[in-house]
Amino acid sequence: MAILLAGGAGYIGTHTAVEFCNAGYDVVVADNLYNSKAEAVRRVEKITGKMIPFYRIDVCDKEALRRLFAEQNIDTVVHFAGMKAVGESVAKPLMYYRNNLDATLTLLEVMKEYGCKRFVFSSSATVYGEPESIPLYENMRRGECSNPYGWTKWMIEQILMDTCVADPDFSAVLLRYFNPIGAHESGLIGEDPQGVPNNIFPFITQVAVGRRPLLTVFGDDYETPDGTCIRDYIHVVDLAKGHVAAVPYATGHTGSTVINLGTGKGTSVFEIIQAFERVNGVKIPFEIGPRRAGDLPEFYANADRAAELLGWKAERTMDDMCRDGFRWQTMNPMGYPED
Ligand code: UD1
Repeated sequence: MAILLAGGAGYIGTHTAVEFCNAGYDVVVADNLYNSKAEAVRRVEKITGKMIPFYRIDVCDKEALRRLFAEQNIDTVVHFAGMKAVGESVAKPLMYYRNNLDATLTLLEVMKEYGCKRFVFSSSATVYGEPESIPLYENMRRGECSNPYGWTKWMIEQILMDTCVADPDFSAVLLRYFNPIGAHESGLIGEDPQGVPNNIFPFITQVAVGRRPLLTVFGDDYETPDGTCIRDYIHVVDLAKGHVAAVPYATGHTGSTVINLGTGKGTSVFEIIQAFERVNGVKIPFEIGPRRAGDLPEFYANADRAAELLGWKAERTMDDMCRDGFRWQTMNPMGYPED
């Protein structure tokens, strides 16, 4: 039996593939390489010493997905296949709804045809919207998302919950990620955004290697101790291990279960810059800019449910995240080579 990683060539997918292989699972990767490179899958093979069946297909393509299911013995799907750029989703909402929803629906339809009933979903803490209080607990009401990307996560969660109601044998674990950063300690795989990074950490690593002159801090006048926004940054390897822990849980339980994957600890923008400079011995020049629309001052998880249900806890520190992220960027200053 094997685990299908849909979108498994991407940043989180590759790190998750490594951890599944290390835990003794067989994995199959499907990815259309829209936002990733085949080289990333070869790097996973290098790290793990395992051969990974790779299907360059779009999971919206039902016939191609059926062929994959006919050839491989898939008993669990871990679904990362989606577009994720917040700003782009505001400009191209139809593309985001079409792609992200279609990918999920097609996966679920083909799973049904093949009797596959376990699903782990790459959701986001963005579904909480603007919360009434911090930290975020899974039993809080989901909120209003500020962009189409967030709504696709929200809607896919709903689709999965409804699927579990309709099929009492179906099991779905909805993992709500906080802010994944860092890279595998080998430096062989990491985050490789196209164009100007939207997120803070790849921006910092690109400044650190001289690809960009300086970071703009989006606002230093928030009501936080140092005036900059606070987020729950989680090492991508810890996040990956959360998926591995979700599979035995999904095997033992039916229905839908929502689980935060965060550390439970908040770090401000200034703190992350300081940690990065100290750990790596580099300077990150920055300027203070205006606030970014939609940013919340403070956002971090309560991570107790993951510990209770999955026996999982984030173990890596902010220093580990900074060190490992910088190693990846130093070894691959321009990201992965073209395939
Ligand atoms: C962002 C998305 C969120 C998505 C997540 C995926 C927005 C508003 N939110 O979360 O929906 O699920 O990415 O990874 O885009 N910052 C700077 N300078 C920069 C970039 C960011 O100061 O160049 C600050 C931001 O103001 C924020 C913090 O760094 O306070 C983290 O930003 P980012 O990495 O973009 O993550 P989120 O906004 O938390």
